[in-house]
Amino acid sequence: MRLPAFLGLLALVLGEAGTASLPKEGRKRREEQTPREGDSNAALPVGNYVLNPDNYGNIIDLSNYEELTDYGDQLPEVKVTSLAPPPRASPTKSSMPARTSSANPMMTRPTAGLPGPSANHGLPTCLVCVCLGSSVYCDDIDLEDIPPLPWMTAYLYARYNRISHIRAGDFEGLTKLKWVDLSSNSISSIDNDAFRGLPALQHLILAGNQLAALPVLPGGIEFLDIRLNRLRSSGIRPEAFRALKKLQFLFLADNLLESVPGPFPLSLRSLHLQNNRIETMQRDSFCDPEEHKHTRRQLEDIRLDGNPINLSLFPSAYFCLPRLPVGRFT
Ligand SMILES: *[C@@H]1O[C@H](CO)[C@@H](O)[C@H](O)[C@H]1NC(C)=O
Repeated sequence: MRLPAFLGLLALVLGEAGTASLPKEGRKRREEQTPREGDSNAALPVGNYVLNPDNYGNIIDLSNYEELTDYGDQLPEVKVTSLAPPPRASPTKSSMPARTSSANPMMTRPTAGLPGPSANHGLPTCLVCVCLGSSVYCDDIDLEDIPPLPWMTAYLYARYNRISHIRAGDFEGLTKLKWVDLSSNSISSIDNDAFRGLPALQHLILAGNQLAALPVLPGGIEFLDIRLNRLRSSGIRPEAFRALKKLQFLFLADNLLESVPGPFPLSLRSLHLQNNRIETMQRDSFCDPEEHKHTRRQLEDIRLDGNPINLSLFPSAYFCLPRLPVGRFT
């Protein structure tokens, strides 16, 4: 290190004397000797000194290398012998002081071992998110995917992220998962099976996304909130809700639906369809025309306001309801 240090000092002195008077050769050398911040290809400050296996050890101080690479048990051992020349390029890179992270093994290797959302166990996710008991809080942390969740997760909050797609395996095996809130992401598609095998799922909140279609829903669902998406009637399978025998709250306001997506299970209490493009409904959207005596005391809250539908055109559609839907009846 002595020669480059000397050359550097010399260049500095010459520079002080005035750059204009610096000979062309000298200025070039000074540039060579000053690696710039962020330039991973910056050469070692050796000037015209040629690296070769004989003088290499004198120029690059490896005495503290082992100390730098001591990360405990987590990382594979790096043998100093692997740095021996040839080739010339790799020892130059490895022994550079920490100017850029990519040029320094001390910077890059531990990062690879750090917990991240892509890791495959509960623990790493709980360093990215906050896990409290069976709740996992991942709000507003720029997630682009559902992180791997601890098997005992019952409540997941991953609101205000950038998740765009939900894959079939994202919730696989989470038999205790009861509550999923993915409000305000950019979810535009959900694999059909993503929620299917979740026996405990009761609350599914997907408000404020870009969904045009619904996946298959698990039979135990009670509360489904898909407000503020891009749902079209073609994106909801016929009878998609009929088999959901525990469904009580269905919030589909502020979408692009063209018709009332019934029939609905008898458990339903609240149906919000305001601010869609609904122009029509089926005779049996709410009531079974074959059973004139039946009533649906539960379904008290139907909203159809903000739709281009004339509710007066469907006089036989409401006979079983305890209360008429909110909307235009003229
Ligand atoms: C709505 O339908 C009823 C019954 O057919 C009709 O009398 C009324 O004029 C319609 N209103 C509008 C705004 O089309």
